[in-house]
Amino acid sequence: MGGLAASDVNRLGDLTGKRVLVRSDLNVPLDDGKITDDGRIRASLPTIQELAAAGARVVVMAHLGRPKGAPDPAYSLAPVAARLGELLGTPVAFATDTVGDSATATVAGLADGQVALLENVRFNAGETSKDDAERGAFADQLATLGDAFVSDGFGVVHRKQASVYDVAQRLPHAMGGLVAAEIDVLERLTERPERPYVVVLGGSKVSDKLGVIDNLLGKADKLLIGGGMLFTFLKAQGKEIGTSLLEEDQIPVCLDYLERARAQGVELLLPVDVVVADKFGDEASARVVAADAIPAGTVGLDIGPESGRLFAAALADAKTVFWNGPMGVFEQPAFAEGTRAVAQALTEVDGLSVVGGGDSAAAVRQLGFDEDAFGHISTGGGASLEYLEGKTLPGIDVLKD
Ligand code: 3PG
Repeated sequence: MGGLAASDVNRLGDLTGKRVLVRSDLNVPLDDGKITDDGRIRASLPTIQELAAAGARVVVMAHLGRPKGAPDPAYSLAPVAARLGELLGTPVAFATDTVGDSATATVAGLADGQVALLENVRFNAGETSKDDAERGAFADQLATLGDAFVSDGFGVVHRKQASVYDVAQRLPHAMGGLVAAEIDVLERLTERPERPYVVVLGGSKVSDKLGVIDNLLGKADKLLIGGGMLFTFLKAQGKEIGTSLLEEDQIPVCLDYLERARAQGVELLLPVDVVVADKFGDEASARVVAADAIPAGTVGLDIGPESGRLFAAALADAKTVFWNGPMGVFEQPAFAEGTRAVAQALTEVDGLSVVGGGDSAAAVRQLGFDEDAFGHISTGGGASLEYLEGKTLPGIDVLKD
């Protein structure tokens, strides 16, 4: 991941002494102020190192979570700056604001090859504003901190936001190696997938996956459905789902997908058993039941072992696999086995296996899998889904001119 061959940073010319603003996606999960998965930080290192090695004064811009356009200590990037420094093996100067006195002084204090991180860009309302002028005004201020811009935050390229989109319009710009590598893999999935092409979708909501299912029904050979969204499919088939997650309004959509899959010869696989509990997160009451015999009053929290085997068998001959979304509440051991079974099956794929999405990527790492066992672990959830939906990604589009 993050191979630099395809980056076009060279187009910026000699970077010695230049201040280069880099948009990275350092949006990592935190628990009580501690980073629980630093995968996105590690994925961002090669481009930062490439620029530092070229003598640039590297100014990293990033967001964390979704603060409400004002400073909020719960979303400070301070812990990320510390971890970034550890991983780089050199201290990272941290600006405690985005475009204020601290940012100005921090950037002015950088020597060639040194790295700074600005505080969470979403502490400024202009970052995510839908109003072009408001976003532009913030981008103007950010642009004063750099002589050039490198886009390397793949996880946010689907966002038309100031530090992703508008800054690129204001400075000479280039695509970083991480974004280039991610796009390269996604192109292989969309333009020339080797067959059989199997897609595994999980996560909680069908409504988050509509566009991608729509698009993949015409492309994939098999579609495997797990995670919370499976219960809306089961309900659509007339099954009892207890108190499991349900998106009532998506039932007709699920019926349509089941019908289209049949008509187009796409094998759409649903779990045959599930792990239920008396209530959400209650590991003590976890038990396996048939998918058509979910007891009333219980909640489904993972696919069952038989389904894990079924999915693994469906993946066995795949030449291309895209997986987005955990199969269950993998953070709890009693509900992690379905996700583990799918991850294990992906490691055995003889072809290109792509893990897309922050949750699935975090899951494979938390479950102890070796990242190298997968063809590619994407740093982008929404971004990779939107790409597969065929949508234009503003943060990529803006780099074209
Ligand atoms: C992500 O976590 O998918 C990216 O960092 C984008 O975050 P966002 O969905 O809050 O824009």
